[in-house]
Amino acid sequence: MPDLSKITCIEDLRRIARRRVPRMFYDYADSGSYTESTYRANEADFQRILLRQRVAVNLEGRSTRSTMLGEPVAMPVALAPTGLTGMQHADGEVLAARAAKAFGVPFTLSTMSICSLEDVAEHTGRHPFWFQLYVMRDRDFIERLIERARAANCSALVLTLDLQILGQRHKDIKNGLSTPPKPTLANLLNLATKPRWCLGMLGTRRRSFGNIVGHAKGVGDMGSLAAWTAEQFDPRLNWADVEWIKKRWGGKLVLKGIMDAEDARLAAQSGADALIVSNHGGRQLDGAPSSIQALPAIADAVGQSIEVWMDGGIRSGQDVLKARALGARGTLIGRSFLYGLGAFGEAGVRRALEIIQKELDITMAFCGRTQIDQVDRSILLPGTYPTP
Ligand code: GLV
Repeated sequence: MPDLSKITCIEDLRRIARRRVPRMFYDYADSGSYTESTYRANEADFQRILLRQRVAVNLEGRSTRSTMLGEPVAMPVALAPTGLTGMQHADGEVLAARAAKAFGVPFTLSTMSICSLEDVAEHTGRHPFWFQLYVMRDRDFIERLIERARAANCSALVLTLDLQILGQRHKDIKNGLSTPPKPTLANLLNLATKPRWCLGMLGTRRRSFGNIVGHAKGVGDMGSLAAWTAEQFDPRLNWADVEWIKKRWGGKLVLKGIMDAEDARLAAQSGADALIVSNHGGRQLDGAPSSIQALPAIADAVGQSIEVWMDGGIRSGQDVLKARALGARGTLIGRSFLYGLGAFGEAGVRRALEIIQKELDITMAFCGRTQIDQVDRSILLPGTYPTP
Protein backbone atom coordinates (compact mmCIF):
# COMPACT_ATOMS: atom_id res chain seq x y z
CA MET A 1 0.00 0.00 0.00
CA PRO A 2 1.70 3.26 -1.05
CA ASP A 3 2.00 6.05 1.53
CA LEU A 4 -0.08 8.80 0.02
CA SER A 5 -0.02 11.17 2.98
CA LYS A 6 2.17 13.65 1.07
CA ILE A 7 -0.22 13.65 -1.87
CA THR A 8 -2.33 16.65 -0.96
CA CYS A 9 -4.04 17.83 -4.14
CA ILE A 10 -5.22 16.53 -7.50
CA GLU A 11 -2.31 18.25 -9.22
CA ASP A 12 0.10 15.97 -7.29
CA LEU A 13 -1.71 12.95 -8.73
CA ARG A 14 -1.65 14.43 -12.23
CA ARG A 15 2.11 14.89 -12.16
CA ILE A 16 2.72 11.31 -11.06
CA ALA A 17 0.23 9.90 -13.58
CA ARG A 18 2.02 11.76 -16.34
CA ARG A 19 5.23 9.97 -15.41
CA ARG A 20 3.68 6.52 -15.01
CA VAL A 21 1.13 6.20 -17.80
CA PRO A 22 2.28 5.63 -21.40
CA ARG A 23 2.18 8.84 -23.29
CA MET A 24 -0.62 7.98 -25.73
CA PHE A 25 -3.02 7.11 -22.91
CA TYR A 26 -2.05 9.99 -20.66
CA ASP A 27 -2.51 12.35 -23.61
CA TYR A 28 -5.83 10.72 -24.51
CA ALA A 29 -7.18 11.57 -21.07
CA ASP A 30 -5.55 14.93 -20.72
CA SER A 31 -6.43 16.67 -23.95
CA GLY A 32 -9.24 18.63 -25.51
CA SER A 33 -10.28 19.14 -29.11
CA TYR A 34 -8.66 21.57 -31.56
CA THR A 35 -7.24 24.61 -29.70
CA GLU A 36 -8.31 23.19 -26.31
CA SER A 37 -9.86 26.56 -25.42
CA THR A 38 -13.00 24.94 -23.93
CA TYR A 39 -10.89 22.38 -22.11
CA ARG A 40 -8.90 25.20 -20.48
CA ALA A 41 -11.99 27.34 -19.79
CA ASN A 42 -13.60 24.49 -17.84
CA GLU A 43 -10.92 24.86 -15.18
CA ALA A 44 -10.17 28.57 -15.52
CA ASP A 45 -13.79 29.72 -15.12
CA PHE A 46 -14.04 28.02 -11.73
CA GLN A 47 -11.09 30.10 -10.55
CA ARG A 48 -12.87 33.36 -11.33
CA ILE A 49 -15.78 32.60 -9.00
CA LEU A 50 -15.14 33.96 -5.51
CA LEU A 51 -16.52 32.69 -2.21
CA ARG A 52 -17.94 34.75 0.67
CA GLN A 53 -16.05 34.09 3.87
CA ARG A 54 -18.35 34.02 6.90
CA VAL A 55 -17.25 33.84 10.54
CA ALA A 56 -18.52 33.08 14.03
CA VAL A 57 -20.86 30.35 12.84
CA ASN A 58 -21.15 27.05 14.73
CA LEU A 59 -19.36 24.62 12.42
CA GLU A 60 -19.98 21.43 14.34
CA GLY A 61 -21.83 18.51 12.76
CA ARG A 62 -20.87 19.17 9.16
CA SER A 63 -21.93 16.83 6.40
CA THR A 64 -21.22 16.52 2.71
CA ARG A 65 -23.81 13.74 2.34
CA SER A 66 -26.45 14.16 -0.28
CA THR A 67 -28.33 12.17 -2.91
CA MET A 68 -28.06 11.75 -6.66
CA LEU A 69 -31.12 10.20 -8.32
CA GLY A 70 -32.35 9.46 -4.82
CA GLU A 71 -29.30 7.29 -4.08
CA PRO A 72 -27.33 8.35 -0.99
CA VAL A 73 -23.83 9.68 -1.75
CA ALA A 74 -20.99 10.53 0.63
CA MET A 75 -20.63 13.77 -1.34
CA PRO A 76 -22.36 14.98 -4.53
CA VAL A 77 -19.61 13.65 -6.77
CA ALA A 78 -19.79 10.63 -9.09
CA LEU A 79 -17.03 9.09 -11.17
CA ALA A 80 -17.70 10.09 -14.77
CA PRO A 81 -17.69 7.63 -17.66
CA THR A 82 -14.26 7.84 -19.27
CA GLY A 83 -13.11 5.84 -22.27
CA LEU A 84 -10.07 3.54 -22.03
CA THR A 85 -9.90 3.79 -18.24
CA GLY A 86 -8.31 0.35 -18.16
CA MET A 87 -5.41 1.77 -20.14
CA GLN A 88 -4.53 4.33 -17.47
CA HIS A 89 -3.85 1.35 -15.22
CA ALA A 90 -4.40 -2.39 -15.67
CA ASP A 91 -8.00 -3.32 -14.72
CA GLY A 92 -8.67 0.39 -14.26
CA GLU A 93 -12.47 0.28 -14.34
CA VAL A 94 -12.64 -2.50 -11.75
CA LEU A 95 -10.23 -0.62 -9.46
CA ALA A 96 -12.05 2.71 -9.83
CA ALA A 97 -15.44 1.06 -9.25
CA ARG A 98 -14.14 -0.56 -6.08
CA ALA A 99 -12.73 2.71 -4.78
CA ALA A 100 -16.02 4.48 -5.53
CA LYS A 101 -18.03 1.78 -3.79
CA ALA A 102 -15.83 1.89 -0.67
CA PHE A 103 -16.09 5.68 -0.57
CA GLY A 104 -19.83 5.78 -1.14
CA VAL A 105 -20.06 7.56 -4.48
CA PRO A 106 -21.42 6.28 -7.81
CA PHE A 107 -19.18 4.87 -10.52
CA THR A 108 -20.15 5.17 -14.19
CA LEU A 109 -18.81 2.64 -16.66
CA SER A 110 -18.22 3.91 -20.20
CA THR A 111 -19.34 1.96 -23.28
CA MET A 112 -15.71 2.44 -24.40
CA SER A 113 -14.24 0.83 -21.31
CA ILE A 114 -11.60 -1.87 -21.25
CA CYS A 115 -13.17 -3.95 -18.44
CA SER A 116 -16.66 -5.10 -19.38
CA LEU A 117 -19.99 -4.58 -17.64
CA GLU A 118 -19.74 -8.17 -16.41
CA ASP A 119 -16.17 -7.68 -15.11
CA VAL A 120 -17.18 -4.67 -13.05
CA ALA A 121 -20.34 -6.34 -11.74
CA GLU A 122 -18.36 -9.38 -10.69
CA HIS A 123 -15.65 -7.43 -8.89
CA THR A 124 -17.90 -4.99 -7.08
CA GLY A 125 -20.11 -7.75 -5.66
CA ARG A 126 -23.04 -6.67 -7.81
CA HIS A 127 -23.04 -3.31 -6.07
CA PRO A 128 -25.10 -1.00 -8.30
CA PHE A 129 -23.19 1.21 -10.68
CA TRP A 130 -24.22 3.30 -13.66
CA PHE A 131 -23.65 2.51 -17.31
CA GLN A 132 -22.96 5.12 -19.98
CA LEU A 133 -24.35 4.35 -23.40
CA TYR A 134 -23.14 5.46 -26.80
CA VAL A 135 -25.63 4.88 -29.57
CA MET A 136 -24.32 2.96 -32.54
CA ARG A 137 -25.87 2.19 -35.88
CA ASP A 138 -26.30 -1.45 -34.93
CA ARG A 139 -29.48 -1.21 -32.80
CA ASP A 140 -29.44 -4.93 -31.97
CA PHE A 141 -26.11 -4.35 -30.30
CA ILE A 142 -27.56 -1.40 -28.36
CA GLU A 143 -30.48 -3.52 -27.19
CA ARG A 144 -28.07 -6.19 -26.02
CA LEU A 145 -25.93 -3.61 -24.23
CA ILE A 146 -29.01 -2.34 -22.40
CA GLU A 147 -29.89 -5.90 -21.38
CA ARG A 148 -26.34 -6.50 -20.20
CA ALA A 149 -26.47 -3.30 -18.12
CA ARG A 150 -29.67 -4.56 -16.52
CA ALA A 151 -28.14 -7.98 -15.82
CA ALA A 152 -25.06 -6.28 -14.33
CA ASN A 153 -27.34 -4.55 -11.81
CA CYS A 154 -26.76 -1.01 -13.11
CA SER A 155 -29.10 1.41 -11.36
CA ALA A 156 -29.01 4.14 -14.03
CA LEU A 157 -28.29 4.51 -17.72
CA VAL A 158 -26.31 7.59 -18.73
CA LEU A 159 -27.01 8.36 -22.37
CA THR A 160 -24.38 10.53 -24.02
CA LEU A 161 -25.85 12.93 -26.58
CA ASP A 162 -22.80 14.94 -27.63
CA LEU A 163 -20.73 12.31 -29.39
CA GLN A 164 -22.45 11.21 -32.56
CA ILE A 165 -19.26 12.29 -34.21
CA LEU A 166 -15.86 12.53 -32.56
CA GLY A 167 -14.13 15.85 -31.89
CA GLN A 168 -10.60 15.98 -33.20
CA ARG A 169 -7.89 15.75 -30.57
CA HIS A 170 -4.59 16.51 -32.25
CA LYS A 171 -2.47 14.51 -29.82
CA ASP A 172 -4.40 11.27 -30.40
CA ILE A 173 -3.72 11.48 -34.12
CA LYS A 174 -0.07 12.34 -33.63
CA ASN A 175 0.39 9.54 -31.07
CA GLY A 176 -1.39 6.97 -33.26
CA LEU A 177 -3.72 6.12 -30.35
CA SER A 178 -4.73 2.46 -30.39
CA THR A 179 -5.68 -0.21 -27.88
CA PRO A 180 -3.50 -2.09 -27.22
CA PRO A 181 -0.64 0.12 -28.49
CA LYS A 182 1.00 -0.95 -31.73
CA PRO A 183 4.60 -2.17 -31.33
CA THR A 184 6.18 0.77 -33.15
CA LEU A 185 9.64 1.92 -32.15
CA ALA A 186 8.29 5.13 -30.58
CA ASN A 187 5.74 3.18 -28.53
CA LEU A 188 8.26 0.56 -27.42
CA LEU A 189 10.71 3.25 -26.32
CA ASN A 190 7.98 5.00 -24.37
CA LEU A 191 6.69 1.77 -22.80
CA ALA A 192 10.24 0.89 -21.71
CA THR A 193 10.05 3.88 -19.36
CA LYS A 194 6.78 2.68 -17.76
CA PRO A 195 7.70 -0.64 -16.09
CA ARG A 196 4.90 -0.56 -13.50
CA TRP A 197 2.27 -0.03 -16.15
CA CYS A 198 3.71 -2.81 -18.34
CA LEU A 199 3.83 -5.24 -15.43
CA GLY A 200 0.20 -4.51 -14.64
CA MET A 201 -0.81 -5.05 -18.24
CA LEU A 202 1.07 -8.34 -18.45
CA GLY A 203 -0.90 -9.50 -15.44
CA THR A 204 -4.34 -8.88 -16.92
CA ARG A 205 -6.22 -10.21 -19.92
CA ARG A 206 -8.22 -7.00 -20.26
CA ARG A 207 -6.50 -5.04 -22.99
CA SER A 208 -9.26 -4.29 -25.46
CA PHE A 209 -12.79 -2.89 -25.40
CA GLY A 210 -14.58 -5.35 -23.11
CA ASN A 211 -18.12 -4.22 -23.89
CA ILE A 212 -17.62 -4.42 -27.62
CA VAL A 213 -15.06 -6.95 -28.81
CA GLY A 214 -16.77 -10.32 -29.08
CA HIS A 215 -20.22 -8.69 -28.66
CA ALA A 216 -20.73 -6.39 -31.66
CA LYS A 217 -20.93 -7.94 -35.10
CA GLY A 218 -18.05 -7.36 -37.47
CA VAL A 219 -15.82 -5.75 -34.86
CA GLY A 220 -12.33 -7.03 -35.28
CA ASP A 221 -9.85 -4.23 -35.56
CA MET A 222 -10.62 -1.33 -33.28
CA GLY A 223 -7.05 -0.17 -33.73
CA SER A 224 -8.00 3.32 -34.78
CA LEU A 225 -10.55 4.59 -32.33
CA ALA A 226 -11.37 7.62 -34.46
CA ALA A 227 -12.01 5.54 -37.59
CA TRP A 228 -14.07 3.01 -35.65
CA THR A 229 -16.20 5.73 -34.05
CA ALA A 230 -16.84 7.35 -37.43
CA GLU A 231 -17.97 4.02 -38.83
CA GLN A 232 -20.08 2.69 -35.94
CA PHE A 233 -21.52 5.62 -33.97
CA ASP A 234 -24.92 6.72 -35.22
CA PRO A 235 -24.86 10.30 -36.55
CA ARG A 236 -28.69 10.29 -36.75
CA LEU A 237 -29.20 10.10 -32.96
CA ASN A 238 -32.19 12.31 -32.05
CA TRP A 239 -34.94 12.81 -29.43
CA ALA A 240 -37.02 9.94 -30.84
CA ASP A 241 -34.09 7.62 -30.10
CA VAL A 242 -33.97 9.00 -26.55
CA GLU A 243 -37.60 7.98 -26.16
CA TRP A 244 -36.89 4.52 -27.60
CA ILE A 245 -33.96 4.00 -25.23
CA LYS A 246 -35.96 5.27 -22.26
CA LYS A 247 -38.68 2.71 -23.02
CA ARG A 248 -36.26 -0.13 -23.62
CA TRP A 249 -34.35 0.58 -20.43
CA GLY A 250 -37.32 1.37 -18.21
CA GLY A 251 -35.12 2.54 -15.32
CA LYS A 252 -33.44 5.79 -14.27
CA LEU A 253 -32.16 7.71 -17.29
CA VAL A 254 -29.55 10.47 -17.32
CA LEU A 255 -28.87 12.61 -20.41
CA LYS A 256 -25.26 13.73 -20.75
CA GLY A 257 -23.90 16.57 -22.86
CA ILE A 258 -26.49 19.34 -22.44
CA MET A 259 -25.06 22.84 -22.93
CA ASP A 260 -28.06 24.87 -24.04
CA ALA A 261 -31.20 25.94 -22.15
CA GLU A 262 -33.43 24.91 -25.06
CA ASP A 263 -31.93 21.40 -25.10
CA ALA A 264 -32.30 21.29 -21.32
CA ARG A 265 -36.05 21.93 -21.66
CA LEU A 266 -36.26 19.12 -24.24
CA ALA A 267 -34.32 16.86 -21.87
CA ALA A 268 -36.79 17.64 -19.08
CA GLN A 269 -39.74 17.02 -21.42
CA SER A 270 -38.26 13.66 -22.42
CA GLY A 271 -38.99 12.41 -18.93
CA ALA A 272 -35.32 11.71 -18.13
CA ASP A 273 -34.43 11.76 -14.46
CA ALA A 274 -31.28 13.89 -14.65
CA LEU A 275 -29.26 15.86 -17.17
CA ILE A 276 -25.56 16.57 -17.14
CA VAL A 277 -24.35 19.98 -18.20
CA SER A 278 -21.23 18.86 -20.03
CA ASN A 279 -19.04 19.76 -22.96
CA HIS A 280 -17.37 16.36 -22.72
CA GLY A 281 -14.38 17.77 -20.87
CA GLY A 282 -13.67 20.15 -23.76
CA ARG A 283 -13.14 17.15 -26.06
CA GLN A 284 -15.98 17.79 -28.51
CA LEU A 285 -17.05 21.33 -29.52
CA ASP A 286 -14.00 23.53 -29.05
CA GLY A 287 -15.35 27.05 -28.60
CA ALA A 288 -18.29 26.01 -26.45
CA PRO A 289 -18.50 27.81 -23.08
CA SER A 290 -17.19 26.14 -19.98
CA SER A 291 -19.66 23.89 -18.17
CA ILE A 292 -19.74 26.12 -15.09
CA GLN A 293 -20.54 29.11 -17.33
CA ALA A 294 -23.44 27.22 -18.95
CA LEU A 295 -24.83 25.80 -15.70
CA PRO A 296 -26.87 28.69 -14.21
CA ALA A 297 -29.01 29.31 -17.32
CA ILE A 298 -29.75 25.60 -17.60
CA ALA A 299 -30.60 25.25 -13.92
CA ASP A 300 -32.96 28.24 -14.27
CA ALA A 301 -34.55 26.91 -17.45
CA VAL A 302 -35.60 23.56 -16.00
CA GLY A 303 -36.27 24.45 -12.36
CA GLN A 304 -37.08 21.36 -10.31
CA SER A 305 -38.44 19.32 -13.24
CA ILE A 306 -35.24 17.29 -13.65
CA GLU A 307 -32.06 16.87 -11.58
CA VAL A 308 -29.29 19.05 -12.95
CA TRP A 309 -25.70 17.84 -12.67
CA MET A 310 -22.51 19.10 -14.25
CA ASP A 311 -19.04 17.93 -15.20
CA GLY A 312 -15.98 19.59 -16.69
CA GLY A 313 -13.04 21.20 -14.93
CA ILE A 314 -13.62 19.92 -11.40
CA ARG A 315 -10.21 19.54 -9.80
CA SER A 316 -11.07 20.31 -6.18
CA GLY A 317 -13.75 20.36 -3.54
CA GLN A 318 -13.97 24.13 -4.00
CA ASP A 319 -15.10 23.48 -7.56
CA VAL A 320 -17.74 21.02 -6.35
CA LEU A 321 -18.99 23.63 -3.88
CA LYS A 322 -19.21 26.31 -6.57
CA ALA A 323 -21.09 23.97 -8.92
CA ARG A 324 -23.49 23.11 -6.16
CA ALA A 325 -24.01 26.81 -5.39
CA LEU A 326 -24.84 27.48 -9.04
CA GLY A 327 -27.53 24.83 -9.23
CA ALA A 328 -25.86 21.45 -9.78
CA ARG A 329 -27.33 18.89 -7.42
CA GLY A 330 -24.54 16.53 -8.45
CA THR A 331 -21.17 16.69 -10.16
CA LEU A 332 -18.97 14.20 -11.99
CA ILE A 333 -15.21 13.98 -12.05
CA GLY A 334 -13.27 12.45 -14.93
CA ARG A 335 -9.63 13.48 -15.13
CA SER A 336 -9.42 14.06 -11.36
CA PHE A 337 -9.94 10.35 -10.68
CA LEU A 338 -8.03 9.18 -13.76
CA TYR A 339 -4.89 10.95 -12.50
CA GLY A 340 -5.24 9.06 -9.22
CA LEU A 341 -5.77 5.80 -11.07
CA GLY A 342 -2.78 6.31 -13.36
CA ALA A 343 -0.59 7.29 -10.43
CA PHE A 344 -1.49 4.66 -7.82
CA GLY A 345 -4.34 2.43 -9.05
CA GLU A 346 -7.22 1.91 -6.63
CA ALA A 347 -5.43 3.71 -3.78
CA GLY A 348 -4.97 6.73 -6.04
CA VAL A 349 -8.68 6.93 -6.86
CA ARG A 350 -9.46 6.68 -3.16
CA ARG A 351 -6.94 9.47 -2.49
CA ALA A 352 -8.53 11.69 -5.16
CA LEU A 353 -11.93 11.24 -3.51
CA GLU A 354 -10.51 11.93 -0.02
CA ILE A 355 -8.80 15.08 -1.24
CA ILE A 356 -11.95 16.42 -2.88
CA GLN A 357 -14.17 15.61 0.08
CA LYS A 358 -11.82 17.28 2.53
CA GLU A 359 -11.58 20.40 0.39
CA LEU A 360 -15.35 20.46 0.03
CA ASP A 361 -15.93 20.12 3.77
CA ILE A 362 -13.37 22.74 4.82
CA THR A 363 -14.37 25.25 2.15
CA MET A 364 -18.07 24.86 2.93
CA ALA A 365 -17.23 25.54 6.58
CA PHE A 366 -15.29 28.72 5.78
CA CYS A 367 -18.38 29.88 3.92
CA GLY A 368 -20.31 29.42 7.15
CA ARG A 369 -22.29 26.35 6.10
CA THR A 370 -22.46 22.93 7.67
CA GLN A 371 -24.68 20.96 5.27
CA ILE A 372 -23.94 20.61 1.57
CA ASP A 373 -27.66 20.28 0.90
CA GLN A 374 -28.19 23.83 2.20
CA VAL A 375 -25.64 25.51 -0.03
CA ASP A 376 -26.96 27.99 -2.59
CA ARG A 377 -25.81 31.04 -4.58
CA SER A 378 -25.60 33.15 -1.43
CA ILE A 379 -22.17 31.64 -0.62
CA LEU A 380 -20.74 33.29 -3.76
CA LEU A 381 -19.51 36.86 -4.11
CA PRO A 382 -21.96 38.68 -6.41
CA GLY A 383 -20.46 39.83 -9.68
CA THR A 384 -17.90 37.01 -9.75
CA TYR A 385 -20.12 34.19 -11.00
CA PRO A 386 -22.04 33.60 -14.25
CA THR A 387 -25.74 34.48 -14.14
CA PRO A 388 -28.48 33.20 -16.47
C1 GLV B 1 -15.05 9.54 -25.36
O1 GLV B 1 -15.10 8.37 -25.19
C2 GLV B 1 -13.93 10.39 -25.52
O2 GLV B 1 -12.90 9.95 -26.01
O3 GLV B 1 -14.08 11.56 -25.15
